[in-house]
Amino acid sequence: MNIVVLNGSPRLKGNTAAMVAAYREGAQSAGHTVTVFDVCRMNIAGCLACEYCHTKVPRQCMQNDDMQMIYPALDEADMIVLASPIYYHGLSGQLACAIHRIYAPGYPRKLTKAALLLSSGSKGVYDGAVYTYQHSFLGWLHLEDMGIFTAAGEENKSPELLERLRAAGAALTDPDDRNVARLVIRSGDVVVRAPLNQTQAARDLMNRLPLSVAGHDSGVDYCCELKEGAFDEVEKQQGWTNGDVSVADGWFAILHSGQEGSDKYRVMPVAHLDEAENALIRMLPPEATFELSLEEPWK
Ligand SMILES: Cc1cc2nc3c(=O)[nH]c(=O)nc-3n(C[C@H](O)[C@H](O)[C@H](O)COP(=O)(O)O)c2cc1C
Repeated sequence: MNIVVLNGSPRLKGNTAAMVAAYREGAQSAGHTVTVFDVCRMNIAGCLACEYCHTKVPRQCMQNDDMQMIYPALDEADMIVLASPIYYHGLSGQLACAIHRIYAPGYPRKLTKAALLLSSGSKGVYDGAVYTYQHSFLGWLHLEDMGIFTAAGEENKSPELLERLRAAGAALTDPDDRNVARLVIRSGDVVVRAPLNQTQAARDLMNRLPLSVAGHDSGVDYCCELKEGAFDEVEKQQGWTNGDVSVADGWFAILHSGQEGSDKYRVMPVAHLDEAENALIRMLPPEATFELSLEEPWK
């Protein structure tokens, strides 16, 4: 994926730069493209609040400075990394200017992920920067958090820190291959994996794993009794797609067949098996026990 790093440190051989270099090295080793902008070496003014971008030309900033070099890169980026020394308990002023100028395009286009790298003299001075990151980037822009990495005092440039950053960069995966948790379903020799979705029922199930359930094949699904878990009624849907795994109303079900006539039923899909894995489920005996566990690829 394309990663854009906004480095807000003026010291290009400093502590923040070392964090950026290690993270970049790791990400590049995993095949990602990393573009670093040293915003302190660029001519980037603060936002003028002229609202040109919202009233005249959508997404376009009328200030013709070096931010115009960053916009095209961000337009193509899957991930943004903010890197900064802590100045007076916050991000550097130069980085703050670049961040405020994101107001014009507003983002995301392809942007789905973010990370934060912070260097400081003392420990425990990150609340301001972290607040900005969490509220403006994760909350407002809805980006997925790929981690907040900090280094205080002697931690800066330490081999342990740089190794941790290299490893974090190397562990980044493409947006299509997101760090999705999978439900592992084992019955005898058959093991299948179904990516879990973002519903309340899926989160609830994740927290209850591992589990063992047993049930019989009704012809369209394996229906297994499972103690009532939390789910949001509005996330229920009419009908299923073959391969859906549903949890609600006291039942765990693997809906392996019968999609054509399924719209008579309301189900609560939490995960989905692909065709090949669903075919394995269809081959199980009429009575089956399923061991359910969680696969977390990022761990
Ligand atoms: C203007 C200024 C303000 C700073 N404010 C803080 C601060 O509030 N808390 C802190 O722990 N360190 C503070 N520092 C120290 C830097 O955050 C620290 O030295 C950091 O590692 C510098 O990173 P760099 O090498 O990338 O420049 C400040 C440094 C400067 C120059």
